[in-house]
Amino acid sequence: MIALTVNGQPRTLDADPDMPLLWALRELLQLTGTKYGCGVALCGACTVHLDGAPVRACIVPVSAAAGRRVTTIEGLAPASDHPVQQAWVAAQVPQCGYCQPGQIMSAAALLARRPRPTDTDIDEAMGGNICRCGTYQRIRKAIHLAAAIQRGEKPGGTR
Ligand code: FES
Ligand code: FES
Repeated sequence: MIALTVNGQPRTLDADPDMPLLWALRELLQLTGTKYGCGVALCGACTVHLDGAPVRACIVPVSAAAGRRVTTIEGLAPASDHPVQQAWVAAQVPQCGYCQPGQIMSAAALLARRPRPTDTDIDEAMGGNICRCGTYQRIRKAIHLAAAIQRGEKPGGTR
């Protein structure tokens, strides 16, 4: 049995220690917001936070999350109103949407450590998150907007 905290809730999982965290989240906890893309840490679709840091859940064994805090897109903000989520709506970032939970989790982790990110910071933090629809320009714009919302310089809300 593996005990961990997921989105603020203590959970105990009867799982093979080698099971990827992504499958534990999706199959055992029905948290299907986190997506499977490549399975080999190359696309970022499966990005979640482990103790606040972004990780690729497809290559993290669930045993590595034991005793730690996992945050998924479902738990990023209680009302889905994290500044990044507000900015994503305002900037109409998603196209097909498949990559977007991973993009949002990477962006939220960036803003947690850099409240005023430069384009270079954004490129470095987001470089591993692939979008087949090519929403990169809107993502960059939305991250700057999210940073401004987080700093209280721009109104939030889903306009
Ligand atoms: S599914 Fe994990 S990085 Fe692609
Ligand atoms: S919005 Fe379609 S893959 Fe990114």
